[in-house]
Amino acid sequence: MSYPFQITSRAQYDAAYKQSIENPEAFWEVVASSFLWRKPWDKVLEWNFTQPDVKWFLGGKLNITENCLDRHLDTLGDKPALIWEPNNPDEPNRILTYKELHQEVVQFAQVLKNNGVQKGDRVCIYMGMVPELAIAVLACARIGAIHSVIFGGFSAQSIADRLQDAQAKYIVTCDGAKRGAKQIPLKEVIDDALVQCPFVEKVIVHFHTHTPVSMIKGRDVWWQDEVDKVAASGNIDGLATEMDSEDPLFILYTSGSTGKPKGVVHSCGGYMVYAAYSFVNVFQYQQGDIHFCTADIGWITGHSYILYGPLCVGATTLMFEGIPTWPDAGRFWDIVDKHKVNILYTAPTAIRSLMSFGIEPLQGKDLSSLKVLGSVGEPINEEAWHWFNDNIGKGRCPIVDTWWQTETGGIMISNMADITPAKPAYATLPLPGIQPVLVDENGKEITGNDVSGNLCIKHPWPSIIRTTYGDHERCRTNYFATYPNLYFTGDGCYRDADGNYRITGRVDDVLNVSGHRIGTAEVENAINMHTGVVESAVVGYPHDIKGQGIYAFVICTNTHDDDNLTRQDIAQTVARIIGAIAKPDKIQFVSGLPKTRSGKIMRRILRKIAEGETNNLGDTTTLLDPNVVEEIKAGRI
Ligand code: PRX
Repeated sequence: MSYPFQITSRAQYDAAYKQSIENPEAFWEVVASSFLWRKPWDKVLEWNFTQPDVKWFLGGKLNITENCLDRHLDTLGDKPALIWEPNNPDEPNRILTYKELHQEVVQFAQVLKNNGVQKGDRVCIYMGMVPELAIAVLACARIGAIHSVIFGGFSAQSIADRLQDAQAKYIVTCDGAKRGAKQIPLKEVIDDALVQCPFVEKVIVHFHTHTPVSMIKGRDVWWQDEVDKVAASGNIDGLATEMDSEDPLFILYTSGSTGKPKGVVHSCGGYMVYAAYSFVNVFQYQQGDIHFCTADIGWITGHSYILYGPLCVGATTLMFEGIPTWPDAGRFWDIVDKHKVNILYTAPTAIRSLMSFGIEPLQGKDLSSLKVLGSVGEPINEEAWHWFNDNIGKGRCPIVDTWWQTETGGIMISNMADITPAKPAYATLPLPGIQPVLVDENGKEITGNDVSGNLCIKHPWPSIIRTTYGDHERCRTNYFATYPNLYFTGDGCYRDADGNYRITGRVDDVLNVSGHRIGTAEVENAINMHTGVVESAVVGYPHDIKGQGIYAFVICTNTHDDDNLTRQDIAQTVARIIGAIAKPDKIQFVSGLPKTRSGKIMRRILRKIAEGETNNLGDTTTLLDPNVVEEIKAGRI
């Protein structure tokens, strides 16, 4: 069975693309009409990229959870909606049918309401990958509360920053999270964050790892107790809150080239339409398929392709609590075999990491259920692409290389499985509705093929970022001010002779470490918090597994005789301020940094040194002190 908006042939793709450019509003109107709206929209689109101000399906009323759950109950009620595979393979998995997931969401929505949460309130969710995370997200959406999921790897300070920015009065968390052999004491991290956030009124704690936690009277409550109370009272209205198409659905924080992470805001109607549309078309989802996206729900990939996209179309989505290498490097393949997974959507960093274990972990694993493979988060190198293709897809599964961003809400450029051709290391073609353009530094469009430039998007699509929470000007300057009338992605891109797009990486000061976006300025700020540090400069360098590693050049009045200990102290400081994901891989102590006479650090030079290209540093004559470069070159790690 195909979906109303499913493109099923190359000819249809070409026709849909053409129509979507010639008449975008007519195109999206047809796609949107297959969803459940309480009230249809009055107008499809209003937009300008100057302010920016983009509105889709104006006047339309809906609740996304009625699309994800209620509308499937009659036809798919007993079908698995969510398959949960625990961290520990010896523990039982859980399967929630659409009816069961609906019931859980409705119950927890009532818990939220009973604890004072109202439409428009921000709820921070800091949990491991347990089914209750999915339930909490959907329960927020059910009552119109704006969820802000924070990845379990972020530190107390990062959480406090986000809580303050969003003024979130409510938190849903767990006692702890399981990740491979490790346990993360989530509630303890929250408690540390709350020292700086006296405005938080309620913390709902799901009991999972049996980690001892502090529970403060009047503020902290147990998830299970609250659900039991609701169930015992029988007082569950079950009603979904009616939302305007443009009401915010969630905030998701992401790093940019300057300052603290910004809260990307997505709205209800447009996000729903695009998440489901892109899910069905890119993966060519067929009713009955089991879809396994290995991302964490703390990132946009998990929002769009574990939860909202699949559930909106009545798919079965698989959620995995653990990591690919525990208890051994065959874990993904065990899961594929056990649950007969049809679509596997993962990241190049995971593929490269598994590749390093060879093919032994694949022995005896039946991967014949796989139909489609996907990659996301960073450029996939050809070697990893071929390994994935040969050993996992056995040459018979199309690999979709999906390019998109937190801000785009859904996949923008990608081949569509078995519809448009793949090309290793290329995201290939835009989805119908997406108009990519390449521009030079002056914003002049670069037309024709076999050309490179900065990647921008010309026309809005339904799930485009609406604002950065609490600071619309930041949204404008970050994405819409660099090039007039264009959304700027921050990525560099090559368009080949056939019009296929290959993303070449960020052109701003943003790193992509294991598919995680980290701003160099953020890492520098954290390093500079260390007592001994005078100044620092952070750049990326190619890393075999992570894609990019973090290289820090640091001017430091060493606090220990032992340089290595000082390095570890600095790394610990970064882990405290941001989280372990931002720890530098290499720290080189230097006596000065290469600066222009106006005091600007010449990162280009540091980047080349970090990459090992020490002989070809380009023009260094504008430097204040060219000698410093020689010293840095000599001390390279
Ligand atoms: O540089 C691009 C890279 O990841 C960035 C977006 O990061 P984030 O918002 O965290 O979202 C990641 C998951 C959608 C982009 O600006 N990126 C993402 N997908 C690809 C990619 N680079 C190359 N190829 C991709 N398929």
